[in-house]
Amino acid sequence: MILVTGGAGFIGSNFVIDWFAHSDEPVINLDKLTYAGNLHTLVSLSGDARHVFVQGDIDDRELVSRLLAEHQPRAVINFAAESHVDRSIHGPGEFIQTNIVGTFNLLESVRAYWNALPADDKEAFRFLHISTDEVYGTLSLEGAPFAETHAYKPNSPYSASKAASDHLVRAWHHTYGLPVLTTNCSNNYGPYHFPEKLIPLMILNALAGKALPIYGDGQQIRDWLYVKDHCSAIRRVLEVGMLGDTYNIGGWNEKTNLEVVQTICVLLDELEPRADGNSYVEQICFIQDRPGHDRRYAIDARKLERELGWKPAETFESGVRKTVEWYLANPDWVGNVASGTYRDWIQTQYGA
Ligand code: NAD
Ligand code: TYD
Repeated sequence: MILVTGGAGFIGSNFVIDWFAHSDEPVINLDKLTYAGNLHTLVSLSGDARHVFVQGDIDDRELVSRLLAEHQPRAVINFAAESHVDRSIHGPGEFIQTNIVGTFNLLESVRAYWNALPADDKEAFRFLHISTDEVYGTLSLEGAPFAETHAYKPNSPYSASKAASDHLVRAWHHTYGLPVLTTNCSNNYGPYHFPEKLIPLMILNALAGKALPIYGDGQQIRDWLYVKDHCSAIRRVLEVGMLGDTYNIGGWNEKTNLEVVQTICVLLDELEPRADGNSYVEQICFIQDRPGHDRRYAIDARKLERELGWKPAETFESGVRKTVEWYLANPDWVGNVASGTYRDWIQTQYGA
């Protein structure tokens, strides 16, 4: 079996659901259930003996060591993190705690477990760390997309904390021989995406008749990847990735934020037209920019394509259509996440 951390969040839950579409190998899913974790997302797995959910912290060595000893996983995939740049600007402490200290404690628990494994299991074991392209910092418009050799220059508390965690993972391989793999992925989107992030926030605000708040001039560029393509890349890296290597994962879909929001508006105009017949584009507004806002991210995913034979299945156009359709078809999930502390966050970030 495998142990997944953060499997009740956006990418982790998609990964677990997708895993069982391809395999019957059981998954232990360890998640702290912060505001970003949601068991409602995993409801399709309730009663499924292949899935064991445990609420807990990657920082908790006693708990993690017990889970490892009890379930003897052949791999650990670490999705658990604080993941939202804007929240990291308002309060970086949790990011340092989970993304750096938490990863350190997880590595130490895993190292002790791995050291005690019989030789064959020890050789087969993998620790796969899920990271982000944001560790590389920002690109100019003319700059070549981030390859694995690009220098780390993180600019936000979030990206700095993820960069630190990547360095820890690398060092645990180099120093202790822990069999690690690291992936650095571009911006994901798709089902179960918490509506604090650009794409789901815009879909839900549009439908609620609210403003669509674009930071600054909306010309920042992100490289978008449909979440299921990220999941297939992770499975591939786990299967055949070279020990100690890092792999950049991206969709070759560079878009400005304004283009992304306009695309969502056009799709909603088609799929759920406004009662007054006008376009959702009318709801777009420009607000104060994010401090330290990175201008452009772009991923060069050729290593993963060349060495491991992976390619994304979705274009941005096909993936974003699926995503909008999913949000329209799942009002219960939306109602469940968009309550309570979510409202407090929206007030803190956009209230003024
Ligand atoms: P998310 O915020 O939606 O989910 C994170 C999950 O981790 C939540 O379920 C949360 O409860 C859990 N968690 C947080 N702290 C924990 C702790 N201390 N112990 C155990 N569980 C904890 O994040 P996501 O978008 O699914 O991102 C998953 C991973 O992928 C992160 O490491 C992130 O840095 C990385 N990543 C995300 C993107 C993206 O576009 N979302 C892109 C590239 C990489
Ligand atoms: P986000 O989804 O927060 O991802 P990240 O910051 O990790 O790339 O934001 C994506 C882009 O959208 C980023 O350039 C910030 C911008 N953005 C807005 O313009 N308005 C918003 O309300 C949000 C949440 C993001």
